[in-house]
Amino acid sequence: MTAKELRKKYLDFFAGKGHAIIPSAPLVPENDPTTLFTGSGMQPMIPYLMGEKHPLGTRIADSQKSFRSGDIEEIGDNRHTTLFEMLGNWSLGDYFKREQIPWMFEFLTKEVGLDPKNIYVTVFRGSEALNIDRDEEAVEIWKEEFRKAGIKAEAVDFSERDGMGNGRIFYYDEKKNWWSRAGVPENMPIGEPGGPDSEMFWDFGAELGLHEKSKWENEPCHVNCDCGRFMEIGNNVFMEYLKTENGFELLKQKNVDFGGGLERILAASDNNPDIFLTDIFKSSKEEIEKLSGKKYEDNPESFRVILDHIRAATFLIGDGVLPSNKDQGYFVRRLIRRAVRFAHKLDIKNNFCSDIAEKYIELFGDEYVNLVDFKNNILSELSKEEDRFRKTLERGLKEFDKTFKMAEAVSNESLEEGVMKSPDYLFGEAIFDLVTTYGFPKELIDEEARERGIEIPNASWEQFDELFKKHQELSRTAAEGKFKGGLADHSEKTTALHTVAHLMLAGLRKVLGSHVHQKGSNITSERVRFDFSHPDKMTDDQKKAVEEYVNEAIQANAPVVMEELTLDEAKERGAEGAFEHKYGEKVKVYTIEGYSKEICGGPHVANTGDIKGTFKIKKEESSSSGVRRIKAVVE
Ligand code: SER
Repeated sequence: MTAKELRKKYLDFFAGKGHAIIPSAPLVPENDPTTLFTGSGMQPMIPYLMGEKHPLGTRIADSQKSFRSGDIEEIGDNRHTTLFEMLGNWSLGDYFKREQIPWMFEFLTKEVGLDPKNIYVTVFRGSEALNIDRDEEAVEIWKEEFRKAGIKAEAVDFSERDGMGNGRIFYYDEKKNWWSRAGVPENMPIGEPGGPDSEMFWDFGAELGLHEKSKWENEPCHVNCDCGRFMEIGNNVFMEYLKTENGFELLKQKNVDFGGGLERILAASDNNPDIFLTDIFKSSKEEIEKLSGKKYEDNPESFRVILDHIRAATFLIGDGVLPSNKDQGYFVRRLIRRAVRFAHKLDIKNNFCSDIAEKYIELFGDEYVNLVDFKNNILSELSKEEDRFRKTLERGLKEFDKTFKMAEAVSNESLEEGVMKSPDYLFGEAIFDLVTTYGFPKELIDEEARERGIEIPNASWEQFDELFKKHQELSRTAAEGKFKGGLADHSEKTTALHTVAHLMLAGLRKVLGSHVHQKGSNITSERVRFDFSHPDKMTDDQKKAVEEYVNEAIQANAPVVMEELTLDEAKERGAEGAFEHKYGEKVKVYTIEGYSKEICGGPHVANTGDIKGTFKIKKEESSSSGVRRIKAVVE
């Protein structure tokens, strides 16, 4: 099966069960400054799991591109990727376990065609401390499903300690069978939703001998063992709890949050534990083989790093994240730089990232059209970053070798005489130099050192941290002068700039004409970047007029009022809405009386006076043909 076929089967299946299919949200969460990336399908759904009404109803499904930055160093094995597609379905206070479990079983066994004999499941063991019961209900439903498939399913506890026995269903504690954005219950902030979950695993077969070959060979194998015999292919979260000051309370509604990795379900359907052998990576893998003259089978780790990292970088740049030294951009830079470094190992010496990216754009372009729209940008950003890095790499490695020679040469004698600094100290300084002067990522320094057989001592890292902290403090003091006063925290600032974006669009339409519509926006706590349709460069007078419009609205301290209307009603009342095609029947309309009326998901400040400050256009430039871009701030 191909990824395309699987994605379609999944969405068709859940559409058939009354689900509205929504498009994937961008990898950078819109107006959520608490997290850098969309790391799961449920993230954009949180307000609705908490009880807000979704415009498309109570049954939603999608395939959501997700990025988990914490996994960068893990890449290289047969089943981890930083970017993945998460198939998701949600019940927003609608169906629950009785429907979800049989549907998943049906989907996996009938639609995907997985043999039920190789499917194993887990459920929550229950916890006295949390005052949450063992999930016997899920066990009974699973038993019934397996029974109908001719399999007697036994539930077994403590398989991680005693082995799996004849079990099919296994209990685990909250470390494994509880899901929230923040992980285990104790890490959840007050006000966060979560719940016990029930996960499904595919068994690639004991006969592959993966467990015996792993470092866990002396412990019993079980479905959550990391030897690779079992692979998690999906997670049904029964999200019905809210963390409160007094422990867990029931949410207003019982939700289901299902997430399953497309890549992994595909690997299960191929019955091959290596997800890099699915059709997703085929053409890119062949391209690397062509460029390097080497075979995947002989260099799996380097191939996997390159395959994963370039795919992730392609998607991230496609969502507007350019390589840089901070925030999201830092991860794109790291991905590209690690990929280039691993390509070095395969003797690929020339720029290659854009060749691989082209294969992915070809493969994913139908589903993720922005990849096609921004293709030229993506390819050129990849090549530019590669050029920059090759230069850095050369210079940095020379410095690196010098430092290590020097450190080696420092004898105890000269140390005692106080002539030389200790090697730990020298390493620390060298790392600092490599990071700040050459833009060398820390992780890469560590890896380079290891390859030279050197374990950088902790003391050196501490020395580095100390120098780096000082360096940061200095640059922060310099920057602080610029941001005096202002709003309390990031999310408030972001919300305020979101409202500013509405006022700005209304101002632009008033000053330039009604041909102006929003083409995109990106808001951080410091600035708003706003793209809009307009053929010409704005004159200074026009910019000033827009600034005045927005500032007048801020000074008026006008209330920002939200109403839920049907799309037709919203249009009738003259609401502006560039992204209206994303929504279904009912939409939210935010009105700032006398200034702006716009379809939008929110959030916004309650009164324009909460924007606190003066709106200023910092830059106005061309974004693409017929589209202008403004960068603006509130000072
Ligand atoms: N949120 C759950 C997960 O990410 C299921 O969608 O695993």
